Amino acid sequence: MKTIIISLSVLAIIVGGIVYSLSPPTLPAIVTQPILFNHPRHEEKDVACYDCHLFYKDYAVAGIPDTELCFSCHKSDKDLKEKEEKRKLHQYFTNKTEINWQRINTPLPADVVFDHKRHVVKEIDCYECHGKIEQQVETMRMVEDFTMDKCIECHLREKASDDCLVCHK
Ligand code: HEC
Ligand code: HEC
Ligand code: HEC
Ligand code: HEC
Ligand code: HEC
Repeated sequence: MKTIIISLSVLAIIVGGIVYSLSPPTLPAIVTQPILFNHPRHEEKDVACYDCHLFYKDYAVAGIPDTELCFSCHKSDKDLKEKEEKRKLHQYFTNKTEINWQRINTPLPADVVFDHKRHVVKEIDCYECHGKIEQQVETMRMVEDFTMDKCIECHLREKASDDCLVCHK
């Protein structure tokens, strides 16, 4: 009896292994944001990345817009009653509170240096690193986070430095 149980569990492990290796890579999880922020809807209306991510041309960080910036376009919304997400936005503004946006990617380790400006001046598109976020109605957790291999693969291709100390401090 014991051997049957053991061989069954071995079988289960083998079958499990086969199912696991045949199953497609897991889909990225949707990040539940305090307001369902819709990138495609803004893209459709020609609101540019730079209208909201204010810093990438000049600094290391790209920046997430604050409530005030959202409100500069949305203060006179006439469809508040029809749109729950807009009602929430107005509430944040009236209460003078910031929206607690969740990060999409896992932040880089503290010793790694990354600078948006250095890449943007070389005309590298946002989607090369972030995927097509402008097509995601609900923002997804990145399928692959930023790995060293991905950074170095492009650095070699673009003849940028692959010196350890360029990326690590
Ligand atoms: C530069 C102007 C601009 C800024 C800044 C802006 N929006 Fe919008 N937003 C628009 C336009 C244009 C639309 C499409 C027309 C509409 O629904 O009002 C829109 C639509 C929306 C909608 C409705 C989406 C849907 O599914 O129909 C929501 C919710 C929204 N914005 C939230 C925000 C939030 C939150 C921020 C700040 C993070 C923000 N917006 C910043 C211009 C802006
Ligand atoms: C109307 C304002 C607005 C516009 C325009 C906009 N974004 Fe965003 N973006 C946000 C907000 C708000 C968040 C945080 C909420 C979320 O992740 O959905 C965000 C999140 C992101 C993130 C995830 C950051 C992280 O790791 O948490 C990336 C990457 C990004 N945006 C890239 C872009 C790109 C590329 C464009 C242009 C194609 C763009 N955004 C246009 C407001 C905007
Ligand atoms: C060469 C790769 C690369 C490109 C190109 C790039 N990003 Fe990023 N982005 C990153 C990395 C890496 C992080 C995470 C940085 C960290 O965690 O310290 C990040 C983080 C962000 C964040 C969240 C943190 C922050 O800096 O505010 C936003 C928003 C963002 N990027 C938007 C953009 C937009 C918009 C563009 C295009 C103008 C863009 N990125 C182009 C690699 C890139
Ligand atoms: C183009 C940028 C880049 C270069 C060049 C680079 N790294 Fe990295 N490295 C990263 C990034 C991004 C991470 C974090 C993501 C990951 O772990 O894959 C990382 C992670 C690491 C880690 C894991 C520990 C940690 O959190 O920092 C080690 C160890 C490391 N790198 C060593 C090296 C060495 C040694 C070299 C030179 C031979 C090097 N790296 C060159 C970008 C780089
Ligand atoms: C799609 C291509 C691409 C990707 C992906 C990429 N880089 Fe770069 N990176 C470049 C280019 C091109 C330069 C500009 C080199 C120059 O200024 O001559 C650069 C420059 C840099 C610099 C400044 C280099 C210097 O000489 O001072 C740092 C630091 C850096 N990248 C870090 C990273 C890290 C960390 C990642 C991954 C999270 C990354 N890069 C991903 C293309 C890329």
